[in-house]
Amino acid sequence: MEKQQGSRESFATKFGVIAATAGSAVGLGNIWRFPYLTGENGGAAFLVVYLAFVVAIGIPVMLSEFVIGRSARQNPYGAFRKLAPGKPWYLVGLMGVAAAFMILAFYTTVAGWTLEYIYQAITGGLTGKSGPQLSDMYTQFRDGSWRPVIWFFLFMGMTSGIIVFGVKKGIEKSTVILMPVLFIILVILGIRSLTLPGAMEGIRFLFRPDFSKIDSSAILAALGQVFFSMSIGMGTLITYASYFPKKDNLLGTSFSVALTDTFVALLAGIAIFPAVFSFHIEPGFGPGLVFVTLPGIFQQMPGGSFFALLFFVLLALAALTSTISVLEVIVAFFTEELKMSRKAATWTAAGTVSILGLMSTLAWNPLMKGITLFGKNVFEILDFTSANILLPAGGFFIVLFVAWFFGREKASAELSNDGALKAGYIPFYMFLIRFIAPVALAIIFLNGIGLLRL
Ligand code: PFF
Repeated sequence: MEKQQGSRESFATKFGVIAATAGSAVGLGNIWRFPYLTGENGGAAFLVVYLAFVVAIGIPVMLSEFVIGRSARQNPYGAFRKLAPGKPWYLVGLMGVAAAFMILAFYTTVAGWTLEYIYQAITGGLTGKSGPQLSDMYTQFRDGSWRPVIWFFLFMGMTSGIIVFGVKKGIEKSTVILMPVLFIILVILGIRSLTLPGAMEGIRFLFRPDFSKIDSSAILAALGQVFFSMSIGMGTLITYASYFPKKDNLLGTSFSVALTDTFVALLAGIAIFPAVFSFHIEPGFGPGLVFVTLPGIFQQMPGGSFFALLFFVLLALAALTSTISVLEVIVAFFTEELKMSRKAATWTAAGTVSILGLMSTLAWNPLMKGITLFGKNVFEILDFTSANILLPAGGFFIVLFVAWFFGREKASAELSNDGALKAGYIPFYMFLIRFIAPVALAIIFLNGIGLLRL
């Protein structure tokens, strides 16, 4: 029997649930951030740590967000208020909304860059350029022009244009089309890369671990990447789960999403590293990896311009299905807590995020370059603070909430759809969220920010 859902929207189909949620998880995190972090932190060893965190922390946090979101059917702030009236847990929800502002600001900056590169790929702006020329082109574009600002607003406009249509007609309708397209493009690029001469070198880099590269900052980076990539720790999944039908199997959905996300990150690595090694380039070029190194590689391979275009379309699509999920967190908050219409909430959210976004987009511009903290510019501060601090902190409180406050009984009822599903894994899940995930999170976090030395 369907429970009363009031006038609140929900996703219409099972595929819609997975496309939307996996769409949130799969993004620049997988294709832009994962490969360069892996390159910087020792390749396969980083991957091993990453995978261990996905299982021990990522999936339990994701399931906990699903439990909170679907039982409360509210935005993250409202959800905590509803499930823990009069208690300060709502602060966790507020922190999530704040993190959404920060992530959307710097994320849309990079998403905008992908549009510039699509434009360059179409108009032949990348053709015939040498490595150093491409590197100059990237820095001049990023540091010394207004173009990133235009692309930022265009991307923000596209995101808002989807969100304004709501859950079914906006989010679900777009992601069920975009996700399969994304997947097909990625497979084509993976095959292209693997069939280059010397490709095995890159595969070896990705799959043969060297643990000497793993230090506390690499471990923190892996943890931050798990949170960022799986979209966990800030209430995005609380928000999406608040639109899941009551019949949905939460464990099944969390596995589908985690698997898709990990698989896409690996495929992106498989599409990128063989090409990098095949053309004898040093991996670990940092955030410029996909905007400088890859265009250079595309120049040298047959059919390169076409593959460059495909690659940047892939990045843009992946980014779009993620930015909509982050904007939805803020929009759900505005509509439910400030009683705004969806339309007003969308444009207010987009407008306010754009102020921070403008600062992030201009972070390398002479106008803003001087504003730094610990040597990081505005963009880097937003990226570091949200991924490595706010999301793991949010995840810590989310698991504590379900484990110790919400409790096993209510969590079991939600996970088993009130007894309709067999859920024999619940004791194991409870063990993970009571002890393993919070302790691991606390240690890695304190160690990573230097408050604890192991
Ligand atoms: N998971 C997205 C990615 O990997 O690109 C980014 C992201 C989306 C982070 C939503 C956080 C979030 F709430």
